[in-house]
Amino acid sequence: MLRIWTKYLAVTSVAAAIALQMGHVNSRPVDANAGARLFSDRGCVGCHNPQSLNRGAEYRALTAMPASDVAEALRAYREGRRDNAVMQNMTRALSDQDIMNLAAYLGQ
Ligand code: HEC
Repeated sequence: MLRIWTKYLAVTSVAAAIALQMGHVNSRPVDANAGARLFSDRGCVGCHNPQSLNRGAEYRALTAMPASDVAEALRAYREGRRDNAVMQNMTRALSDQDIMNLAAYLGQ
């Protein structure tokens, strides 16, 4: 009887491990390094950078935000819920994955 239970537990834990892995098939892991590359490649750095003249305040606002707030702000611009022509334009081509990566890079 004990042996049967042990075998049952072993089989179910393998099944659970496989199910957990499958949950990740469709979503790539959040990648802060990819976010850093996007931040530079898409030109975000031109405005949100302490070295950019007269733009320091916006950069500081970004680095003081939790990642979830950065992601929500970017989605809100992309979907037009937050009104700012510059940022709506900057976020138009971002995928959900891009937004998660940028948030991981920028967020606290
Ligand atoms: C041409 C300048 C410019 C560029 C380029 C730019 N931004 Fe912005 N960004 C702004 C301005 C201005 C605001 C404030 C807009 C507002 O009042 O909502 C802002 C706001 C934001 C906010 C919200 C900050 C807050 O306090 O809620 C985030 C997040 C952000 N930008 C990220 C980015 C990312 C990521 C990129 C690159 C994809 C980018 N920005 C490119 C000018 C820029």
